Amino acid sequence: MNDLAIEVENLSLAYEIDRNLSGTFKGALIDRLRGKTEREKFFAVNDVSFHVEQGETFGIVGANGAGKSTLLAVIAGVLPPIKGRVVVRGTVAPIIGLGAGFDNEMTARENILMYGALFGRESNQMKERVNHILDWAELSEHAYQPVRTFSSGMVARLAFAVATDVEPDVLLADEVFAVGDERFRHKAEARMLGLLQGGATVLIVSHNLQQIKKNCDRVMWMDHGRIVEIGPAEEVVKLYEEASVDPAPLSRENQV
Ligand SMILES: Nc1ncnc2c1ncn2[C@@H]1O[C@H](COP(=O)(O)OP(=O)(O)OP(=O)(O)O)[C@@H](O)[C@H]1O
Ligand SMILES: [Mg+2]
Repeated sequence: MNDLAIEVENLSLAYEIDRNLSGTFKGALIDRLRGKTEREKFFAVNDVSFHVEQGETFGIVGANGAGKSTLLAVIAGVLPPIKGRVVVRGTVAPIIGLGAGFDNEMTARENILMYGALFGRESNQMKERVNHILDWAELSEHAYQPVRTFSSGMVARLAFAVATDVEPDVLLADEVFAVGDERFRHKAEARMLGLLQGGATVLIVSHNLQQIKKNCDRVMWMDHGRIVEIGPAEEVVKLYEEASVDPAPLSRENQV
């Protein structure tokens, strides 16, 4: 049996965006009103290849806009790649964009059932689990409210609770360390730890470099859609931190 949980080969994803023909904001607005826009492809993930072993905890770091969330969405099967290949072995549970997968008009309950259907869970099993999921997320009182009435922390709690209710083979976690308030964060961290120790393969995207160092075996650093470095967590985080430090501020004498 293949012991790779995730294989990503030469993967690229491009968003279609409006090209600004004039180069100015006002010009772009006028072009749009006149219907004179041109679409161009913007590569958010560009020729990315890497493997994750079963049971491995793999971190992804990089600046805002580096393509981390886009990559996770492609691995989750939510966005189709324009080139390359993704293989994920076993059941996959994404916590991406903290609730980005939810329909705002649907109730919390309906969203849980839809999530289950999207990611291959038995509908009977989901119906049995739905109360437990709401309970764990501490949202039972809000079960029949549309998600648009939730605070962002409540949406995050729902997303985390549904994705981690049953241990998936592969968990895709985008910024889950920011989940909810202080008390809920401890609860979420304890559950994450259980998943990590239980042998699940976990892909973690985070700006919390301490958490990344503490939990991950290997780390990938992305920049502008491409891989900069892949290696042991400590080493890659150190390189990323060094590259992210601002140039030394001007000393007082140099300031006019
Ligand atoms: N729906 C979209 N349409 C067009 N461009 C998009 C879309 N979503 C993301 N992008 C662009 O793709 C690039 C990568 O975005 P992405 O959200 O994957 O970055 P990220 O690494 O997750 O950043 P962050 O650390 O801020 O979460 C960015 O330049 C972003 O502007
Ligand atoms: Mg992101």
